[in-house]
Amino acid sequence: MSFKEQIIPEKLPAHIAIIMDGNGRWAMKQGKDRVFGHQHGIGAVRNAAEAAAELGVKYLTVYAFSTENWNRPRMEVDALMSLFVETIEQEQETLKKNNIRLNAIGDLASLPKENYKKLMDAIGRTKDHNRMVLTLAMSYSSRWEILDAVKKILEDYNRKKITADDLTEAYFGLKLTTAGMPDPELLIRTSGESRLSNFLLWQAAYTELYFTSKLWPEFEKEDLYEAIVNYQNRERRFGLTSQQLNR
Ligand code: FPP
Repeated sequence: MSFKEQIIPEKLPAHIAIIMDGNGRWAMKQGKDRVFGHQHGIGAVRNAAEAAAELGVKYLTVYAFSTENWNRPRMEVDALMSLFVETIEQEQETLKKNNIRLNAIGDLASLPKENYKKLMDAIGRTKDHNRMVLTLAMSYSSRWEILDAVKKILEDYNRKKITADDLTEAYFGLKLTTAGMPDPELLIRTSGESRLSNFLLWQAAYTELYFTSKLWPEFEKEDLYEAIVNYQNRERRFGLTSQQLNR
C-alpha cells in the first residue's frame, strides 16, 4: 500500500511546518553552486503545497529565510531575495488553482522594499482563497518573534490595557506572528539535521518532529505522505500517561 493510501483522513494534522534544508548540499553534490540548489528547491515547495492542499491540510508553514541567513555571502542573499519575488509571482497560478492563501511571518520590515511590496501584493491577491494557508517564514526567527511579542505586551501593560494576571499562554500567542493559527502538529526537517534552528520554538511545544535524510530539492509528495503516516502512528500524550489516554 502506498503511503498516501495509509493516511487516515480523520487524523490529518491541521498544521504542518517544514524546515527546508539541504539545497546547498544537493547542488554541491552535482558540482553546481548553492543558488542552483535553491532554484530546485522551488519545485519541492510546489509539490509539498499541492500535496498538503489536496489532502485537506489547513496550514503549511515553510522556513524560507531565517534571521541568521542574512549573514550568508551577499551574492547568495541577493539571489535568494530575487528568487522569492520571482517565485511568488510565477506561482500565482498554482495558488489560484489550488485555492491557497499566501501569508508571511517574520521581520518583514527588514526585507528589501521592493520585495516587501511584491510580497504584500501577492498576499493581497490570494486573500479570498480558503482551502489552505501557505505561510512563508521570511527573515524569521523564534527568538526575534518572542522578543517582539514581549515588547508588544509591555506596551499594552504600560498603557494599562492589561495587568500581569492577564498574561496567559493564549494572550501571549496572540502577540506572535502566528496569531490565529493552530500550533503545528507535525514539523518536518529535511537533510538529516535534527534541530529546530530557531523555528517556531513557542508553537512547537508539543509538535511531533520528523527528520528525513532527503535533501530538500529531492522531497516529493510521497515523502510528505510518509511523514504524515509516521506522525499518525505516534501516540501524542501532551504530558498525560498512555493509560489516561486510552481509558
Ligand atoms: C536551506 O538550505 C534552504 C534555504 C535557506 C532557502 C530555502 C528556499 C527555497 C527552497 C526557495 C523557496 C522559495 C519560496 C518562495 C518559498 P541550505 O542552503 O541551508 O542547504 P545546506 O544546508 O545544504 O547548505
